[in-house]
Amino acid sequence: MNERICLTPSLDADPRFEGCAAVFAGYAKEKLGRDWTKGKGGVSLRFDPALPEEGYRLTVGPEACALFASAEKGMHNGLADLLSRLEAPERDAPEPDGSLLAEPCELTNQPDCPYRGLMVDLARQWHPLPYLLGYVDLCWKNRASHLQLHFTDSQSFTLPMTAYPKLSTEGRFYSREEIRTLVDYAAVRGITLVPEVDVPGHAAQFFLKYPEIFGNTGVLPACEEVFDALRAVFGEVAELFPHSPLIHIGGDEADIGAWERCPRTREYMKAHGIADIHEMYAEYVRTVTDVILGLGRTPVVWEGFAKEYDDRIDRRTIVIAWESYYQPAYDLAKAGFTLINCSWKPLYIVTPDTHWSPEEIAAHDPWKWDHWWEKSVAFPDGYRIDRKYPVLGAQICAWGDRIAGWENSEDGIRKERELVAERLPALCGKLWHLGM
Ligand code: ACM
Repeated sequence: MNERICLTPSLDADPRFEGCAAVFAGYAKEKLGRDWTKGKGGVSLRFDPALPEEGYRLTVGPEACALFASAEKGMHNGLADLLSRLEAPERDAPEPDGSLLAEPCELTNQPDCPYRGLMVDLARQWHPLPYLLGYVDLCWKNRASHLQLHFTDSQSFTLPMTAYPKLSTEGRFYSREEIRTLVDYAAVRGITLVPEVDVPGHAAQFFLKYPEIFGNTGVLPACEEVFDALRAVFGEVAELFPHSPLIHIGGDEADIGAWERCPRTREYMKAHGIADIHEMYAEYVRTVTDVILGLGRTPVVWEGFAKEYDDRIDRRTIVIAWESYYQPAYDLAKAGFTLINCSWKPLYIVTPDTHWSPEEIAAHDPWKWDHWWEKSVAFPDGYRIDRKYPVLGAQICAWGDRIAGWENSEDGIRKERELVAERLPALCGKLWHLGM
């Protein structure tokens, strides 16, 4: 082992990185029990425009400990790396009181994949705000980039709403103040939030609260009145999440057979010359993705629409390929969509007992999909798509279906957090260095 370097806990930050320094000082105090002062002699944070946005250069040597980045995201990544290398000396060690130790190093680093994500299901299981802040912390420490929040499902709608206030589930939605706290907390840590409102399936809250608008068939009708309402809902989502370039519109597992029995949808289909419900599904996704594009954001959608109608949908839409059932990743990729890999196996966690090991996650190629379900084309051996196709990265998805059944649901959320904390480092490690 190299002789370790002794460091003073002080930070000398270029003004553009003072926010990063404050975030680091908080995490470093928590890990190492030291208060960090401002000043020279410890760690310096410097600007280097030549580095990529998420990259950094770190030097730990006898003369200096310096971290360089061109942007806050890169500086956060470098600081998370530095934090993982710092240790407090043993109680009776010879180092000066209050100092820290680190192995010498000189490295330049940047991630191989820009999307290193975690999704948490807040609709099937209520998560008090501190758990969400804790997930942001976990993302920062593991150099993850995105936190997707599945805010709505048939069980609850957890966002505050103005235009349709009854959508927010009584006693089970975040206040505006809480959302602002979360948004600010993620922003100062360089973590991108991806808010999701799941429609047209998984949307019971819509028709339970406003059946006169959203019907009561189990899937939102496709009609102008519903599209107008969704324009208002997603407009509010964009306002609540001003720093989120991506907005997720759901789009999974809709029982579109119900549209055949829905006079309003049939009328819309007739007026627009739409022949069948699969075409209608794609038209629905087109309409809502266009709403998001109109808000100046990029739409994200779960794999769900059929290949035959891909051409209806704007290619700026990012598709999360998860089931390899509705449309496999190879068809989506060939059609020109950019993808995020949420392959059920090994990236799903259904707390408490459906999950895969950190080792399996670390070995997972983001250009590969696997499944345990015989109806998926990824069953039984998985398939791989060519590296030439744009896969932004991958995401662990923590679903809450089974937590709600626990006697003490707080125990369930703690178990979920434990499962995520074991697995996120494996995913992020892989996506930083694909090594294949
Ligand atoms: C999903 O697992 N229904 C996206």
